[in-house]
Amino acid sequence: MSRTKLAFIAYFAVMASMAMDASAVLVTFIFGDSLTEVGNNNHLRYSLAKSNYPFYGIDFEGGQPTGRFTNGRTIGDIFSAKLGVSSPPPYLSLSPNDDALLQGVNYASGGAGILNETGLYFIQRLSFDDQINYFNKTKDAISAKIGEVAANKLCNKALYFIGLGSNDYVNNFLQPFLPDSQQYTHDEFLELLISTLDQQLTRLYKLGARKIIFHGLSPLGCIPSQRVKSKQGQCLHQVNEWVLAFNARVQKLVASLNQRLPTAGLTFADTYQAVLELINNPAKYGFKVSNTSCCNVASLGGLCLPNSKLCKNRHDYVFWDAFHPSDAANAVLADKLFSSLFSSSPSIAPAPAATR
Ligand SMILES: *[C@@H]1O[C@H](CO)[C@@H](O)[C@H](O)[C@H]1NC(C)=O
Ligand SMILES: *[C@@H]1O[C@H](CO)[C@@H](O)[C@H](O)[C@H]1NC(C)=O
Ligand SMILES: *[C@@H]1O[C@H](CO)[C@@H](O)[C@H](O)[C@H]1NC(C)=O
Repeated sequence: MSRTKLAFIAYFAVMASMAMDASAVLVTFIFGDSLTEVGNNNHLRYSLAKSNYPFYGIDFEGGQPTGRFTNGRTIGDIFSAKLGVSSPPPYLSLSPNDDALLQGVNYASGGAGILNETGLYFIQRLSFDDQINYFNKTKDAISAKIGEVAANKLCNKALYFIGLGSNDYVNNFLQPFLPDSQQYTHDEFLELLISTLDQQLTRLYKLGARKIIFHGLSPLGCIPSQRVKSKQGQCLHQVNEWVLAFNARVQKLVASLNQRLPTAGLTFADTYQAVLELINNPAKYGFKVSNTSCCNVASLGGLCLPNSKLCKNRHDYVFWDAFHPSDAANAVLADKLFSSLFSSSPSIAPAPAATR
């Protein structure tokens, strides 16, 4: 069966079950890194991966920094709005028995990766394992509120968005002074990532997750923090090759988990080409610059510090800082992701695999 077809089937399973239950409010749980964080790291006292200072949030509602690593909304914020739900709050902002837990939670944390050791130099961040542990606690809290049966049902019906792996490259394997890059070839490192991810997704499944959308990696070789390592500011070909290898392996893993785990409905959302297209043809989408960031981050670290210089027109730039897309770019990417997941023709989908 073709990959496209598999993706459509999983998509259709998600849509069918959402449609069957139009009365119930969609609950979403979000796991990820700085691309989806909405403020968990603000609560980690010693974390160096923070964005709770200007000019982060300058284009967000209210114009204040929130802990989002962009000038405005994340892709997750925009996606939630499209689904008609509010963007879930950061887990660490909630009390252990908060009623808000029933409506979805965001566990994403800047600097986090699939591997525990990723982002080590940020001192504190929630690794994917930490995030799953917090989801386990969330589920206990939900069970205490509404009972185990209803909690299981809620978790089965919820939608899970996962986006991790960028930091395992940018803040781990691509750092020559860190042990993983010295210890492993890329093939070995990729094996480690995929076997770890297999266990993590299986653990989420055991906790009741069924409808899981795993967001693949972007062409990381083209983000400003990588381009500056090249002679003339071009994309790093080797990095993009590794990213493509990672995406291909995750896609296979997703198919294998759908086979192995009864009623699992995982989808791999591949946005690599969409992001590359935006970077290669910015004008087509109303942008002027895609090879450097709006915020001038010549400084160490690549984040937009309060003393940085900003570009004049923030919507002209695909990148906000050396790592993260601007609000305007996130809007384009969320649109593309949404239509790739939810607007395909349902007529081509046979009996959904995820409801067997
Ligand atoms: C991460 O560390 C925890 C203990 O702190 C351990 O249980 C877990 O297996 C580790 N995960 C990985 C991916 O190494
Ligand atoms: C969830 O946490 C409990 C302890 O509270 C532990 O026994 C259980 O193994 C965890 N489940 C998963 C799937 O990690
Ligand atoms: C970005 O591209 C423009 C136009 O092609 C070029 O003039 C500029 O030097 C590039 N900037 C960087 C940082 O590579």
